[in-house]
Amino acid sequence: MDRIVVTGNGPLSGQIPIAGAKNACLTLMPATLLSDEPLTLTNAPRLSDIRTMTTLLQSLGAEVSALNGGQVLALSSHGLNNHTADYDIVRKMRASILVLGPMLARDGHAIVSLPGGCAIGARPVDLHLKALEAMGADLDLRDGYVHAKAPGGLRGAVIDFPMVSVGATENAMMAATLAKGTTVLQNAAREPEIVDLARCLRKMGAQIEGEGTSTITIQGVDRLHGATHPVVTDRIELGTYMLAPAIAGGEVELLGGRLDLVAAFAEKLEQAGVSVRETPAGLAVTRRADRVQAVDVVTEPFPGFPTDLQAQMMALLCCAEGTSVLEERIFENRFMHAPELLRMGAKIDVHGGTATVTGVDRLKGAKVMATDLRASVSLILAGLAAEGETIVNRVYHLDRGYERVEEKLGNVGARIERIKGDD
Ligand code: UD1
Repeated sequence: MDRIVVTGNGPLSGQIPIAGAKNACLTLMPATLLSDEPLTLTNAPRLSDIRTMTTLLQSLGAEVSALNGGQVLALSSHGLNNHTADYDIVRKMRASILVLGPMLARDGHAIVSLPGGCAIGARPVDLHLKALEAMGADLDLRDGYVHAKAPGGLRGAVIDFPMVSVGATENAMMAATLAKGTTVLQNAAREPEIVDLARCLRKMGAQIEGEGTSTITIQGVDRLHGATHPVVTDRIELGTYMLAPAIAGGEVELLGGRLDLVAAFAEKLEQAGVSVRETPAGLAVTRRADRVQAVDVVTEPFPGFPTDLQAQMMALLCCAEGTSVLEERIFENRFMHAPELLRMGAKIDVHGGTATVTGVDRLKGAKVMATDLRASVSLILAGLAAEGETIVNRVYHLDRGYERVEEKLGNVGARIERIKGDD
């Protein structure tokens, strides 16, 4: 298994290009299942999660070709011939559940394994299933699979989500594009990835209004057609690399970065003493003093502070002056990076969903282990600020969500290398 070795090396300087969003691409790809005509996605990130979704769609009979080094994905579901998403693929990635709504809407039947994914809590899919049931689907949970049927097609419904779920909003939105009548999604997620999906679906002929607000209205149509769509910038990759100069010092420009994608996060950085400035090409981030100041953080659905940046923010706050309180409100059990940061000399107390972090002068390099995608990158960030060598083991999680991390950080002056493992 590959390892990443980081050696704290002082201030960073230069530019980092930000890729298309993994989470947007993972919901845009299944949208191909809604139409017989080709869907072309540009600005796609080159990540193992994208390859997993490719394998899943191909297993259903869809064609998926990665062109231009993987930055363009040409998809077609013309030859769809299998409606079962197998456990062996689905268990690798939770976003696989996003094939359920589209397949069911188009052909009236689908069998999808219940998903696995990152070990960050229970993460059920009940909201996805309830939304589809409200649209008339007949669901049966057997042998770890959802057996879904809607022989007469889905029909529009008013769905009031009891809690905000990105995935459930996406599944319901895709299914509703081909349902008979009008669907209203209340308490819908407002994430930029939802807005991006709505824009792509509209190019395919869907009638959608209200994306980016908590009420989305979809008027079902008989069929969707082909489209070409650029994947929105990855706000989590953006936020992660904004933390690199915040933690190591210096100034880094994030190419393609947009403030509206990370406003709540940027505000916390400013409070901590890190300047975030818009430039013609993106965002420039500079740490104003030798040390940042403690800030309190609460994770919330968009437009609040994203849970997917909580681990990375904790790495920064481990070096801040003062005590910060981080409250995780989206996922239970999402502090698995804390014991690893402790190995690097951090002072962190975790009680339930709250972590209290008291900044130390300097972290110390150590051997640490990545437990999930965002945790693994938080350990790399911590390594940028640590004295000596940090070895991050089990980085396969990292490759699910960050393309060429060692190259991107190496290009701005970080001492970082990947040591290839045997498998
Ligand atoms: C998406 C992102 C993930 C991010 C998360 C929250 C993708 C591929 N992944 O995940 O990176 O961390 O949004 O921003 O886009 N829940 C239920 N029942 C459900 C669905 C969700 O109880 O049926 C709960 C979850 O356990 C969690 C909360 O709702 O506590 C939010 O989860 P959700 O927004 O659905 O996350 P994902 O779409 O899985």
